[in-house]
Amino acid sequence: MRIIVDADPGIDDALALYYLRAHPDTEIAAIGTVHGNVPVEVATANALRLTERLNLQVPVAMGAARPLAQPLMTAEDVHGHDGLGGHAGDAPTTTHVQQSAAEQLANLAREEPGQLSLLAIGPLTNVALALQIEPRLPELLDKVVVMGGALNVPGNITSYAEANFWHDPEAADLVLQAGFEDLTIVGLDVTMANHVPGEWLETLPQDNYARRFLRFYADFYESFLGKAGFVPHDPLAAAIMLQPDLAGYAEDRFAIELTGRYTRGALVADQRFLAEGSPFGRDIATERTKAKYAVTADKDLFLDQLRRAVTQP
Ligand code: BDR
Ligand code: CA
Repeated sequence: MRIIVDADPGIDDALALYYLRAHPDTEIAAIGTVHGNVPVEVATANALRLTERLNLQVPVAMGAARPLAQPLMTAEDVHGHDGLGGHAGDAPTTTHVQQSAAEQLANLAREEPGQLSLLAIGPLTNVALALQIEPRLPELLDKVVVMGGALNVPGNITSYAEANFWHDPEAADLVLQAGFEDLTIVGLDVTMANHVPGEWLETLPQDNYARRFLRFYADFYESFLGKAGFVPHDPLAAAIMLQPDLAGYAEDRFAIELTGRYTRGALVADQRFLAEGSPFGRDIATERTKAKYAVTADKDLFLDQLRRAVTQP
């Protein structure tokens, strides 16, 4: 599988890159960066640092600096002032390409129709902008996996909203209504249920780089959840993309709440049972194409793979 990664690195975004690198028969074709966990310039420097550290020969394009319709908000309390828990280190020696992340996504999809898949693990601003540049994007991309949303569990950034969708609700809603045929959403329902216990981190070698940057993230999650460990949002989305059988799914039609005073950014779905031709069917159900929503995952297998991914030389 050849994958374009759209990300806001970000500690768990970094883990997703480790995971993808380690997986056989997988190639990262390009990386686009976006505002979210940190400002886009910081996310871009981290993407470049990670490609250097992981020895990935991959173009990195800098993407959107702000959401489509609200002010920029970032999450340094979760990811550290430098987005890598204080361990970003020296400035990268490589530079990002000239085109924007949205242009890169649209151009690559046009150049190789049906050949590339998209893993979006940050706010969806770049993907929404790419849809404006190339409205045929849903036909040109193969598989799309998005990390975001909290359907039948509480949100993380607000009571109802998950951070990636909340950072740009309009963009997320545009992506959900674009008509991607093979769209999988990996939200908090599955990521929170696959919390990585503190002991897992303790078993990594002391000098392991991922162990060092994960410390900040794990400390945040311990203060948030009251138990040691961390939540593997983005690497789990990568794992589910590469091995769909790792997860169990619900299938539904989805939208993003854009106007709720307390619920803006929340993922919503029409989960009613509706008989064929039901007069009550005129809701999200009639407006959106279906997407898969991950609800369970094989945690033991995933954690074993993640350990190998972060300890691989
Ligand atoms: C998502 O938000 C970010 O903090 C993480 O990188 C992940 O993509 C989880 O809600
Ligand atoms: Ca992310």
